[in-house]
Amino acid sequence: MNPTKQHEIPKVSEYCKLREVCGLSVISEEAAEKGLPQSVFSVTLRQNNELVGMGRIVGDGACHLQIVDIAIRPDFQKRGLSTIILSDIKEFIDKKVPPSAIVSLFADVDYLYQKFGFDYPIRSKGMFYKRS
Ligand SMILES: CC(C)(COP(=O)(O)OP(=O)(O)OC[C@H]1O[C@@H](n2cnc3c(N)ncnc32)[C@H](O)[C@@H]1OP(=O)(O)O)[C@@H](O)C(=O)NCCC(=O)NCCS
Repeated sequence: MNPTKQHEIPKVSEYCKLREVCGLSVISEEAAEKGLPQSVFSVTLRQNNELVGMGRIVGDGACHLQIVDIAIRPDFQKRGLSTIILSDIKEFIDKKVPPSAIVSLFADVDYLYQKFGFDYPIRSKGMFYKRS
């Protein structure tokens, strides 16, 4: 049976756990408490009510948006689930976000995003602020 898809924000603890089991950087529960409710759009996949996949859009909803937290639990990977999530994200952007918006992401893996219309920037380079 395929996981159930919902357009909802995950709970803090399950979000932090999913990032961890997927090998993404640690985000504290305190930070997630503040950050998750600010999501512009969020997709979850659940199996037996457990979070097994997700993806979010963050930003101001109209001028600047970023796609983040694309994560599928390892035992559910390679079944097309991230494609389901990214399809809903793309549909939301195409239907609900002004065409002038700047939509970006940092790709840890580059095989996911090009077929959804993302490409490497020509003039800009992504940068991260390094906290000491
Ligand atoms: C990256 C990740 C989200 C992919 O999720 P997934 O559900 O396994 O991916 P899908 O099954 O939907 O596959 C999507 C596409 O990627 C390809 N793909 C999947 N895993 C791949 C791999 N390891 N190497 C190359 N291509 C791969 C699939 O063939 C598919 O291509 P297609 O649509 O042309 O057939 C998942 O592996 C994950 O959560 N990884 C850890 C967290 C992470 O790196 N997140 C991304 C941050 S940018």
